[in-house]
Amino acid sequence: MKILITGGAGFIGGNFAHMMVNRYPEDQIVVLDLLTYAGNLETLDPVMGKENFSFVKGDICDREFIEDLFAKEQFDIVVNFAAESHVDRSIEDPGIFLRTNIMGVQVLMDACRKYGVKRFHQVSTDEVYGDLPLDRPDLLFHEDTPIHTSSPYSASKAAADLLVLAYHRTYGLGVTISRCSNNYGPYHFPEKLIPLVISRALADESIPVYGEGANVRDWLYVTDHCSAIDLIIRNGRDGEVYNIGGHNEKSNLDVVKTILKALGKSEDLITFVKDRPGHDLRYAMDPEKIENELGWVPEYRFEEGIQKTIRWYLDNRDWWTHIVNGEYRNYYERMYADR
Ligand code: NAD
Ligand code: TYD
Repeated sequence: MKILITGGAGFIGGNFAHMMVNRYPEDQIVVLDLLTYAGNLETLDPVMGKENFSFVKGDICDREFIEDLFAKEQFDIVVNFAAESHVDRSIEDPGIFLRTNIMGVQVLMDACRKYGVKRFHQVSTDEVYGDLPLDRPDLLFHEDTPIHTSSPYSASKAAADLLVLAYHRTYGLGVTISRCSNNYGPYHFPEKLIPLVISRALADESIPVYGEGANVRDWLYVTDHCSAIDLIIRNGRDGEVYNIGGHNEKSNLDVVKTILKALGKSEDLITFVKDRPGHDLRYAMDPEKIENELGWVPEYRFEEGIQKTIRWYLDNRDWWTHIVNGEYRNYYERMYADR
């Protein structure tokens, strides 16, 4: 089989590419990535040069380029991770989110139709369901929970999901969608909460916590997300949506304190800053469908996964210091100067 992974130089796509190249030596794995600020070729170092792996630089919104690539490669499966993925950036500048996250998906699906791709898998997010109240721990997101988005990021991902389902119903394109909760683990770009806290704590820099730090996220170790997607593209039912999550709800403040404790750093580094506009209160997934239908079982609880993640950042300083020393600095100043 020939499998295209778009956005594979990013955090989750990169981890997925590593897994697929090693798990299926008989399959050809092609990563396509535009290498935006979030894409990093160093993330693909572990698979670069392997016989069943190749990398192509390009834009999923570039119709001509995409059609040429599909005509040449004749992919069996396309897994789309390519996206603008940071909520705070979407609040600053929504336009690029609409372009990449919606129009890019249309271009990819048109090429899938034209060149007979058997399965288009869209990597989506729990954020399409909006948020849940903090005082109702009994409530979870199910696959039929109404779409109800809060940020330009989540709105763009929800629009893409609807388009994917429309292409299935109208044109009969083979599709699946996975909606996963917050991921963490190796190769996570240090603008997101967990790698940001680790990298700043190691430099004894202040840790910005939005509002009171009471917002809750449902954290999943990245390789558990990757194994779920692998199951869906092989055994998932055509036209179906699958929720992915491991019941690991934590408040942001708890996450920050856990990391500071593991690194032996003082909680005095915590700085409460102005809240994110439209900040979702709580996400919590019900993964029963993927567990029952496909037998998916996550390997890591948060307590173990976070220690493994911290260890990775300690052992791989080069990977993230290259990022922190570059463009990211200017971004950080812009985002936090007035907070
Ligand atoms: P990321 O920002 O780390 O990676 C995105 C990748 O897409 C980057 O390598 C970037 O260069 C590439 N890209 C961006 N625009 C492109 C374009 N026009 N053409 C080709 N490549 C382009 O994101 P991530 O955290 O790895 O998320 C991957 C996917 O998973 C996204 O679709 C996101 O919505 C979804 N998701 C993320 C999480 C999470 O916790 N990070 C949770 C659920 C779902
Ligand atoms: P983030 O990693 O941006 O993921 P998402 O917004 O997609 O859930 O943020 C996780 C949580 O951490 C979210 O509630 C916002 C909060 N947060 C902070 O408190 N401080 C920060 O500097 C960042 C980046 C996030």
